[in-house]
Amino acid sequence: MRLNIAIDGPVSAGKSSVSDAVAKKLGILHLDTGAMYRALGLAALEAGIDPGDEEKIVELCRKLKVSVTYGADGQHTFVEGRDVTGMIRTPEVGMAASTVSRYAEVRKEMVRIQQRLAAETDMLVDGRDICTTVLPNATVKFFLTADQEKRAKRRYLELKEKGMEEPFEKVLEDLKKRDEQDMNRPVEPLRQAPDAVLVDSTNLTFDETVDTIVRIVKEKCHE
Ligand code: DC
Repeated sequence: MRLNIAIDGPVSAGKSSVSDAVAKKLGILHLDTGAMYRALGLAALEAGIDPGDEEKIVELCRKLKVSVTYGADGQHTFVEGRDVTGMIRTPEVGMAASTVSRYAEVRKEMVRIQQRLAAETDMLVDGRDICTTVLPNATVKFFLTADQEKRAKRRYLELKEKGMEEPFEKVLEDLKKRDEQDMNRPVEPLRQAPDAVLVDSTNLTFDETVDTIVRIVKEKCHE
């Protein structure tokens, strides 16, 4: 039987890095779906298209091919065959991704690609609508979160490490804005699926969070 693990959660809950580590421990691939929305956000900014212009963004999404491949260093994300993996992690692209992800037509296209990938291979998929929409029949579902201050602190340190330091207050404010946007959009807003296991990492270390998820997956698989 296909092993599909779904992890949803808000921005900077540690989803990407935790998902990477969990997938490695389980020996399966990790699909970071946020990277796909970020790729579209980047393409919009590069083309000078306002992410808030739904009509133009939907047109761009229909025209552009967003794809992913896997190398020894994990997922690479492409737009029209161009590797944009290293360019999509900026706060500006994150905000653009959050905006373009509001549009139903964009989500339909992204979900279609994600479902196809997950049907082909055992995979851990992380995002905002994975438990609810992309993989409603996933083997195990998680909602990974932490309180806003803690997530903002992690985000602040992550940006600093990458040489993109911003004042903490600005990071917290951006995070609140993205939470608000992701949780209140009319199409598939971020919310915990009723059958998802809640993992609150506010008081957990990275390793403890990874171990908690791996343990629950193993328990569910042996039930
Ligand atoms: O996880 P992330 O920060 O890389 O995601 C960037 C944006 O993409 C996020 O603000 C909301 C959107 N997103 C989404 O709507 N659905 C997903 N499955 C993944 C991300």
